[in-house]
Amino acid sequence: MHKKEAAPMAMMDDSENKPVNPRIAAGVATIGDVIGHRLSRRGFLGGLGAVSGLALAGCTRGGEAPGPVGSREAVSADIPAFRFDEIARGMDETHHVAEGYRADVLIRWGDPLFADSPVFDPANQTAEAQRRQFGYNNDFIGYVPLEADSEGRERALLCVNHEYTSTNIMLPGVAAGYPASMTRELCEIEMAAHGGSVVEIRKEDGVWKPVTDSYYNRRITADTTKMRVSGPAAGSPRLQTTEDPTGVVVSGTMNNCAGGITPWGTYLMAEENFNGNFLGELPENHPEAENHKRYGVPSGWYQWGRFFDRYDVSKEPNEPNRFGWIVEVDPTDPNHVPRKRTALGRFKHEGAESVVAPDGRVVVYSGDDQRFDYVYKFVTKGKFEPGNWTVNGDLLDEGTLYVARFDADGTVAWLPLVYGTGPLTEENGFASQADVLIETRRAGDLLGATPMDRPEDVEPNAKTGRVYVMLTNNDRRTEAQVDAANPRASNRFGHIIEIIEPEGDFTSETSRWEILVRCGDPSIAPVGALWNPLTTDNGWFASPDNCAIDPQGRLWVSTDGNEDSGAADGLWALETEGERRGTGRHFFRCPVGAEMCGPRFNETGEALFLAVQHPGDTDGATYEAPGTRWPDFQPAMPPRPSVVVVTKQGGGPIGG
Ligand code: FEO
Ligand code: CA
Ligand code: CA
Repeated sequence: MHKKEAAPMAMMDDSENKPVNPRIAAGVATIGDVIGHRLSRRGFLGGLGAVSGLALAGCTRGGEAPGPVGSREAVSADIPAFRFDEIARGMDETHHVAEGYRADVLIRWGDPLFADSPVFDPANQTAEAQRRQFGYNNDFIGYVPLEADSEGRERALLCVNHEYTSTNIMLPGVAAGYPASMTRELCEIEMAAHGGSVVEIRKEDGVWKPVTDSYYNRRITADTTKMRVSGPAAGSPRLQTTEDPTGVVVSGTMNNCAGGITPWGTYLMAEENFNGNFLGELPENHPEAENHKRYGVPSGWYQWGRFFDRYDVSKEPNEPNRFGWIVEVDPTDPNHVPRKRTALGRFKHEGAESVVAPDGRVVVYSGDDQRFDYVYKFVTKGKFEPGNWTVNGDLLDEGTLYVARFDADGTVAWLPLVYGTGPLTEENGFASQADVLIETRRAGDLLGATPMDRPEDVEPNAKTGRVYVMLTNNDRRTEAQVDAANPRASNRFGHIIEIIEPEGDFTSETSRWEILVRCGDPSIAPVGALWNPLTTDNGWFASPDNCAIDPQGRLWVSTDGNEDSGAADGLWALETEGERRGTGRHFFRCPVGAEMCGPRFNETGEALFLAVQHPGDTDGATYEAPGTRWPDFQPAMPPRPSVVVVTKQGGGPIGG
């Protein structure tokens, strides 16, 4: 592995351990074991076969323009309609789930991951304690099944991103005097609360619970977790800093928003709003000035740069180039050195969900969450081989990154971001593929990609060959900027695009697209919403953000900003097939102030994991006076971002 790279920290390279890992002798799962398990239980290759054998109605509709909802013929008889009674829109201090289901808090910010984790004491928190506890603002949730234990109990690893810290409601006493109230120690607590957690969960007497002090449990943070940069930009002079003159070793990851689990069972953490963590000013003529400007660096949402030079761009102008990547982690090895996979480009990655194409190559989809930014897919050069870590381990280091142009005739043109082709040359300031990847956004600008209404999660459906793009909103689009794929000016409520990959070939450079729904209240004409008329007053939603495909191939959408339409964020089932295509149905509601992240089903579809992020973060909320104290409702306990697990009473698949 990593033959292309210099190896300044040979002791960090764990790859050699794979074939002789002592965990095998100890009966502890490795990636190979996990994948074998996944394949046998999920019929993963069966799904692949289904994709390659598709004759999709949606793929044969030629030049049909993007059409209204409710029009598509059913493409697959084995994708059932949803069957549950939806909940009511509304907003209060707690969560709600559809009748017949239970929603249990599984793990909360501050919960222990290790035997030596200090008892959570939010009024006296320390960075040291936080590094041993579940982090803040859970976002992406990955689920990696493990073999049942000796007592036959189901087990799995949850891989959870901790996107950001809500400083004012997380830290006592800072809101009133902010930002002067922030100290070095408080910034370190924030860094320790960012990143991710790997935590084993186990089903005991029908209830999923975290396993404290599991071998697998791990915290990944924004400061102390060493990671290696790999792929074409590794070692670039533009990634070199005082702390790391090699440009291949970075301490930490941050703003880990959505992500993905690869077909070989690794955990992808998407680095999103890294611009907010930097302070300082660069002279306008600095070589990185234009680059940083395109990414909004520095935005100064955090005070870290006051105490740590690396977050002050005037002192470390290359540090921002070391963020905005996809980070790959082996969740079965708590000592694995995470990889920043530069081949997938640098932008405000929202997610990184992947699928195996019919020819065995792997395709990773990602959105760049910014108004007027782009949708991407990465196609590996190599092919996935089940259980072969030597092959799969570095698949994400070589391949082609594409950016999407959505044409008015319903075509998606996937434009390759390859150094030396088209405008991506020295004339435009690109001296290498590393430059193209470090400045992915500018490369996309030059190629004529379509500026979208904030692309968030992008999720392929292996059963149907379609891909769903959450476009959360864009209140800055003017009438003059409206186009077919972004049809509303001042788009406050967002929309969802469906991409149809031809005959299920996710690697295709030409696809079709159409709008699945235009979000917002359909009863208010000026909103311009478009839903299947079967959608009830509770079934429509605003600001789609994350999504999930359940094992039956059905789409679920979570929101961030539904409160702008007068009701709490939450989770909705959204029909994609037949007569009910474009019908939303409300399944779960967040407590006030929270957004809904991370929908993730287990392999049977009988457990649904949901991330309730920033509960109580209402206008003017503080640690002392939050919008709710969910989920503990204790006077001295602030609200706690938590993962909730939903199961059906009496068992069975979520959603019917
Ligand atoms: Fe972190 Fe785009 O939501
Ligand atoms: Ca998100
Ligand atoms: Ca969001």
